[in-house]
Amino acid sequence: MAVVPAATRSRLWRGVIEEFRDRLPVSSTTPVVTLREGGTPLLPAPWLSEQTGCDVHLKVEGVNPTGSFKDRGMTVAVSKAVEQGAEAVVCASTGNTSASAAAYAVRAGLRPIVLLPDGKISGPKLAQAVVHGGIIASVEGNFDDCLRLARELADTYPVALVNSVNAFRLAGQKTAAFEVVDDLGDAPDVHVLPVGNAGNISAYWMGYREYAADAGDVPGPATRRPRMWGFQAAGAAPFVHGGPVSSPETVASAIRIGNPASWDLAIAARDESGGLIDAMTDEQILAAQQELSGREGLFVEPASAAGVAGLLHYSRTGRLDGGQRIVVTVTGHGLKDVDTASAYYGEIRPYVVPADASAAAAALGLA
Ligand code: F0G
Repeated sequence: MAVVPAATRSRLWRGVIEEFRDRLPVSSTTPVVTLREGGTPLLPAPWLSEQTGCDVHLKVEGVNPTGSFKDRGMTVAVSKAVEQGAEAVVCASTGNTSASAAAYAVRAGLRPIVLLPDGKISGPKLAQAVVHGGIIASVEGNFDDCLRLARELADTYPVALVNSVNAFRLAGQKTAAFEVVDDLGDAPDVHVLPVGNAGNISAYWMGYREYAADAGDVPGPATRRPRMWGFQAAGAAPFVHGGPVSSPETVASAIRIGNPASWDLAIAARDESGGLIDAMTDEQILAAQQELSGREGLFVEPASAAGVAGLLHYSRTGRLDGGQRIVVTVTGHGLKDVDTASAYYGEIRPYVVPADASAAAAALGLA
């Protein structure tokens, strides 16, 4: 067998702290807790490009170790928690933060306490919290209630809060914007993503600003900043309504949030970038999820398709200029919520065939 010389092999990705150490709030003595998150693909999207007349790329965050973008922030938040002597972490979650917090916490030897809205997170996400040894509280309330509770626990008891109100989380998450610029050579014209608790849109904007800024006389890696386009679910769209929503409801359970913590930062991201935050219906979100699966070959969870739904909607209603370079973040893997995806297709009816090639070929339309 031919031996591939080491120099021609791709370099092993070391995780976001080691890759972006000089831009993160860590020191040489910070213990690095990593699952080698980040370094995710920026995938050209030919079907979306054709539909929109733009050059569309997907930032595929579902390939992170626990299946969502949360790992980028969690590596920093948990590393800092260890550095500061924490023995337990707490978070509120619609499912992805808890999966990530549990995985990173156990890796660091910390106890993960997760507060989940009762009955409102998907089976696979709950399973992740369970297998990573999460200490799980099913809260009678929604995500916003869970977050209030998590804050109160962290204020009063010896436990580190690792929701995105923890600045270390956003610092880690901004690295996704760095990777986009590193891959494209500059910032895109528009960056599109789903919005729930609004940490991610805030973190991307921090990242883009930082990369375009010049520290003193040294120009940053980017010459410009994108417009930030965020999309919520219509039943959970506080930014569109201009204030909190008391009973948020959407099939996209990851973004079923009525009172986003990073309100001011997200408004700033929207306005400073000349962008927008709008809402898509559950039907539009599920249709976009299905089109991503069926056209681009990429299976994402419902919330993750909100940005794609928004992009398609703006294009189809004549509100998207062609010829632009666009990046859409798809935030979590499709396997995170298989029930919603399967339900969209109704009853699954495979061809039942005998174990015989000619009979199978006939049934499958090959002969
Ligand atoms: N997409 C997915 C798959 C998510 O899990 C989330 C948030 C978002 C988008 C929205 O990101 O909150 O930064 O605006 N999930 C959180 C959680 C709330 O608990 O897992 P955001």
